[in-house]
Amino acid sequence: MKGLVLSGGAGTRLRPLTYTGAKQLVPVANRPILFYVIDNLIDAGIDDIGIIISPETGREVEAALGDGSAFGARFTFIVQDRPAGLAHAVLTARSYLGDSDFVMYLGDNLIGTKIRQSVAEFRADPSLAGWVMLKEVENPSQFGVAVVDAAGNVTSLVEKPAVPPSNLALVGIYFFRTSVFDAILRIAPSRRGELEITDAIAKLIELGGKVRFARVTSWWLDTGKKDDMLLANDTVLDEWLVHDVAGEVCPASRLVGRVRVAPGAKIERSTVRGPVIIGAGATIRDARVGPFTSIGERVLVERSTVEHSVLMEGAHISDIRRLEDSLIGKRVCVRPSSARHGSLSLMVGDDCVVEIEGG
Ligand code: DAU
Repeated sequence: MKGLVLSGGAGTRLRPLTYTGAKQLVPVANRPILFYVIDNLIDAGIDDIGIIISPETGREVEAALGDGSAFGARFTFIVQDRPAGLAHAVLTARSYLGDSDFVMYLGDNLIGTKIRQSVAEFRADPSLAGWVMLKEVENPSQFGVAVVDAAGNVTSLVEKPAVPPSNLALVGIYFFRTSVFDAILRIAPSRRGELEITDAIAKLIELGGKVRFARVTSWWLDTGKKDDMLLANDTVLDEWLVHDVAGEVCPASRLVGRVRVAPGAKIERSTVRGPVIIGAGATIRDARVGPFTSIGERVLVERSTVEHSVLMEGAHISDIRRLEDSLIGKRVCVRPSSARHGSLSLMVGDDCVVEIEGG
């Protein structure tokens, strides 16, 4: 069985971070979301993995993942020339997939469970044409939605319905056999102009294919917006972070709870309250950090308090009384203005949100 990871698309919801990078590479607990996707596939015994990339961010995704050897896998990169839909991405991968069954996994989805058991069940039952993972949600209109019967079969599906027929959202993990291609070839683009995988699965069922499902009972984060990203960061730090101090911590500093300090990071005269992860080459000086904070590589935090935030590599935070609930991009500087009369002096890119004290 092969894997197909979708790491193309435009990523408009996470602007401005996705102007300069792929949304699947945005870090959660200092690791790109995409790495957790690969981990889950490998855990299920799938190590031959095709990665759909876009012309815009493909090179960056390729550089981050490498050829797969670092993960014990083999990656094949497949360029999708435009974001024409999830089913279009599957068609683009047709020659790579050949006659293999495959797991399709959206590269921006993070779930708290392994897919190993479901993969084994699908493989063991050749009568199944497809398999989807479903989760009960409060806002089904924002997702693909499935209707199921008591026997465990999916009976119908619809993409982002205004009036949802159930509260079961399609988590972005699907298993298929080659029969899915016949279904894709018989669907037309949706209202948003995309070839939807949801429509293709509905067609598969219409053509007589049996599609089963598993319920995801753990957390699931379809990382799209700032608050989702912060929640993903909280959850991964809370559940998976292991206390491990490899960097330098001076005797005047205090680490409380689970804190991971990468080699080459320095903590000077500071208090860090876990869960917190601090990347290689970062410096925390005369500061308070945490809880629920990820500090990327080569970040500098000095004379500041930072809580419940993600600071990406190379960011500098100096003399800030309190920074919280923030997502700070690469090489961003946050510091007090030297201008007088309480005026602000900003250099901020397109689509950023700057929230400051009013008055
Ligand atoms: O997150 C779950 C949802 O994902 C499902 O409930 C929906 O049924 C499914 O259509 C999908 O909806 P989204 O609107 O969230 O999909 P999005 O456009 O964000 O794309 C999902 C991933 O696939 C993302 O990593 C980008 C990648 N992608 C997307 C498109 C449209 C591609 O690689 N190529 C594409 O053409």
